[in-house]
Amino acid sequence: MKNILFNHGLTTKELGHNFIVFDEIESTNDYLNEKANDLAHGSVVKAIYQTKGKGRLDHKWHGEKNTSLMFSVLIKTKMNATLKIKIVFAAAIALFHTIKKLYNITTSIKWPNDLYFSDKKIAGILCQMQNDFVIAGIGINVNQQDFPEEIQNIASSLLLITGIKVDLNMFLANFLNYFENTINTLCTEGFYPIREEITKNFYLMNKEVNIETPKKTIHGIVKGMDDDGQLLLDVSGKIKKIMAGDVHICF
Ligand code: BTN
Repeated sequence: MKNILFNHGLTTKELGHNFIVFDEIESTNDYLNEKANDLAHGSVVKAIYQTKGKGRLDHKWHGEKNTSLMFSVLIKTKMNATLKIKIVFAAAIALFHTIKKLYNITTSIKWPNDLYFSDKKIAGILCQMQNDFVIAGIGINVNQQDFPEEIQNIASSLLLITGIKVDLNMFLANFLNYFENTINTLCTEGFYPIREEITKNFYLMNKEVNIETPKKTIHGIVKGMDDDGQLLLDVSGKIKKIMAGDVHICF
């Protein structure tokens, strides 16, 4: 029997055909990491609530029951590692298009994995890579009416921004439709078309930032992203390439 996502506009060949929902789970990424061998490519796990939601670089991800959308997608792929690490960007562009379609607003992508609107975070992506698969875990602030005081200045929801309330499964089905396409683009055409779209909507472009890397904090001005997905940073007139790190804007 077809799952509920098909009633909400799912048109994919594979993504979302196996759809598992938990009322409460520690983390949908952890679940897929454990069960990946037993599950089909394209399986999607959604949580109504996560007790140990994870973000990048050991951050926690707090989602609100029934108003925020939290899910992970299992991508079993023979792509080489160089392309697999770009899946996070394929997910970001898919999210960008979903939001444009459903709300008619233009978000921007904060390298490497966040979506922003008016200097506030709307969504985050956590991709975890193994030999044969990638898990793309995504948290989106869809219908929250408010946020705890400590993050009110840095986070917002699509409902607060647009006044539009959207069904979470409908959002998910639309996202998966786009995500299947952007993954196909990555497989068939490589990173270039996705990189082009990201750089057109690059939240950090020409911003002064501090980047926390495991070893040190680097200060500079963002100049874009290269063919490998690395951030290009102007540090005292010299371009440095940053592979990973936590980016803080100097407001
Ligand atoms: C980030 O902003 O650093 C990434 C946040 C990713 C959160 C999502 S929610 C669904 C999936 N399960 C998790 O534990 N994390 C991701």
